[in-house]
This record gives sequence, C-alpha cells and structure tokens, in this order.
Amino acid sequence: MPEIPVADSKAVPEGEILAVNVSDQAVAIARVDGKVYAFDDRCTHEECPLSDGFVEGAEIECWRHGARFDLRTGAVTLPPATSPLVVHAATERDGTIFVVLAETAPAQ
Ligand code: FES
Repeated sequence: MPEIPVADSKAVPEGEILAVNVSDQAVAIARVDGKVYAFDDRCTHEECPLSDGFVEGAEIECWRHGARFDLRTGAVTLPPATSPLVVHAATERDGTIFVVLAETAPAQ
C-alpha cells in the first residue's frame, strides 16, 4: 500500500484526534507523547466514530459505551467491544503526517 499524506502535523496537537479520509476510508489520527497513530475511525462495538472519543495515555476511549483500544496494537483493553481496532502505519516528516493503510480482508 502506498504512503499517503493526510494532514499537516500542526493539525494534530498532543492528545487530540483528527478525522481524515484516506482513499475513501474514514481514518482517525491521534498524537500521544509526540508520536502519531492512525486507526479506523469506527468503533468495533457499534461503529460510531472514534474521532469523537478521548485519548487516555496510549488508548482511545469510545465516547458511546466506553470501549477502549490500545492505539499501538488495536487490541481491546476495555469492553464492550470485543474485536480489535484496525490500526494503520503513521509517520511524520517535514511537517506532514503520512499513513499507510493496513491490508484488511474484504467484507464477506
Ligand atoms: S459504539 Fe463504541 S463502545 Fe459502543
């Protein structure tokens, strides 16, 4: 998958979340301890946007029912979600954030 520029670095301050569209896919970008993370902007519990949630340490908390996911791995750290979050590779160069979308299996 290609590396795609998605946002200016200044658009994602520490602890904030930015919703972006990457190749017609809803992606959220968050910054924790200076590092950027990219993940599907859709909670795996009932599919609400995680960009409206809260960053707590290296976790994203869904605003709706409180599920939490590890931003580094996508692992569920607090129910009610049971399926992991899809995380994407995110890097930052020269004031721009780039994302490489994760390969995901097609919907059945
Ligand atoms: S929709 Fe996210 S926890 Fe329910």
